[in-house]
Formats: sequence, structure tokens, C-alpha cells
Amino acid sequence: MSDETLKAGVIGYPIVHSRSPLIHNYWITLHGLDAVYDARAVEPENLEPLLKALGDDGYRGINVTVPHKEAVARLVDHIDPFAERVGAVNTVIVRDDGTLEGRNTDGFGFIENIKQGAPDWDAAKPAAVIGAGGAARAILAALLDAGVPEIRLANRSFDKAQKLAEDLEGPIVVRPFEDRAACLTDAGLAVNTTTLGMEGSPPLELDLSTLADGAVATDIVYTPLETPFLKQARAAGFHTVDGLGMLLHQARPGFAAWFGIEPKVTPILRALVVNDIETKG
Ligand code: ATR
Repeated sequence: MSDETLKAGVIGYPIVHSRSPLIHNYWITLHGLDAVYDARAVEPENLEPLLKALGDDGYRGINVTVPHKEAVARLVDHIDPFAERVGAVNTVIVRDDGTLEGRNTDGFGFIENIKQGAPDWDAAKPAAVIGAGGAARAILAALLDAGVPEIRLANRSFDKAQKLAEDLEGPIVVRPFEDRAACLTDAGLAVNTTTLGMEGSPPLELDLSTLADGAVATDIVYTPLETPFLKQARAAGFHTVDGLGMLLHQARPGFAAWFGIEPKVTPILRALVVNDIETKG
């Protein structure tokens, strides 16, 4: 590492499970860049000073993960319209004048993952989204931008789903969690954005029988790669797209902005991350 070495990284609290260093350092090596990408645990009270010092510390930018995405959205100097709508920033770019630009690439990652994994996905059909947490916000906004005519949203806490629908404005119909199966009638896409199905959590129980023919099922959970929900969807003959691709694709815009190279999500990168998950959990 020299004074010329470009720097980027990810911050969260805690940060142990982040695969972002693996992804970005793979691209750094692949493209022969003189750059490093690190991971730092940043306590909430240290967030603002860290952001203020980012440029002086030589960083081109950072990724932001739980629990800092919302706070960073309030602290950056410029915020892109999508991140503002979602109220969360996952990618920060240090501009040439030293000011900070906040973006949210989670929605981009979600859509790119579906495009890569299920190129025949019909965005002209309604979509069903289960869950209304942090990830759901970006996914809903991205689906609206993709032109989905109606989104049916069901969440255990009904109020949270209603708030999300109000915040985002658009054709979002909120249903009680108990009626979640009704969200799927003739839908072209079913998305699990809850933590159900994650290793150690109970599965998402959902009757898929009314989904449109050729529909796509996708999950944001990627440990395991094939959740019980995806397994059920695959067995029923639907297209399935696992959640790992969203993580891989959301990393692309940050890397491109910091280092000036458009990186690709390839089978080799995917295998590298799958191997990491399998060995470290
Ligand atoms: P937040 O961003 O609000 O912290 P999250 O942890 O990202 O939330 O999201 C967790 C999602 O999984 C939420 O939709 C949550 O439902 P609630 O909003 O009702 O909490 C959902 N979830 C987690 N455990 C669940 C369970 N056992 N049954 C149903 N939904 C569950």
C-alpha cells in the first residue's frame, strides 16, 4: 500500500458477516487496481466523525450496512432521488470537492438479479411482496420504477406495511399477513423480504398455487441459498432466483463510481462467495 493506493470499504455494526470485502477485493485483483477495500465496525456515535473524515482519510467511498443506512441518508451532502425515496443509503461516494454523495443500490441489485436469473420475468404482471422491513423499502421502490402495475404487500405488522405504502406512493395494496396467499393471485413475481427461511428461523409458509404460470419467486435470504420458500416454488414449476445475486449486483455501482471500472457478476465471483458462506456460514 502506498499514498497512491485507492481506498474503499464497508461500515456496519457489527460487520463480521459482510461479504462485501470478498466481492470488491476480487474485482480489485481481477482488474489489477492499486486499491484496498476494508471492513470496519463503527459504533453509532462514531458515524458522523467517520463520514466527515472520509475524504481526508483517502477514501473514494464506502458501502454502508445495518444499522447505519438510515442515519447516513441524513448525513450526506447530496442524496440521489432513489435513496431519498427509500430513506436509506448503502453507497457513499466522495466527490472531487470532498462532499459526500449518498446512493441506494439495493433496488438496482434486486432488479439486476432478477433480470440475470429470470430474463423472462414479466414486469407487466402484479407483484407480491411479503415483509415490510428495511430491504422491502428498496425492493418496492425498484418494482414501482420497473413499471409493475400493482404491488400486493403483506407484513406481520400491518401498520409497518401501511406506512411503507404511504411513504412510497404508488399502486401498493396492503393485506393482512394472514391473507398473504391472496397477494399471489395471477402475480408474476413473489418476493420474500422477511427473515423467515433463514437458517435457524422458521420457513415462510405460503400457498403458491394461484401464482401466474411462468411466475418468478425470489428471496432476499441467501443462507441457505435455496430457502424452503424457493424450494417449494421450484417444486411447483416456477422460476426461482436466490438472494445472493442481489448482494452481488448491488455492489456494482459503488465499485464503478470509486474506481472507474464497470465490474461484472460472473459464475466465478458467485462461486467464491458461495464457498465463503459454506465454510464460514
Ligand atoms: P427492520 O428493517 O424494520 O429492522 P428487518 O429486520 O429488516 O426489519 O425485517 C424483518 C422482516 O421480517 C419484517 O418484515 C418482519 O416483520 P415485522 O415488520 O412484523 O417485524 C419480518 N419477520 C421477521 N420475523 C418474522 C416472523 N416470525 N413472522 C413473520 N414475519 C417476520
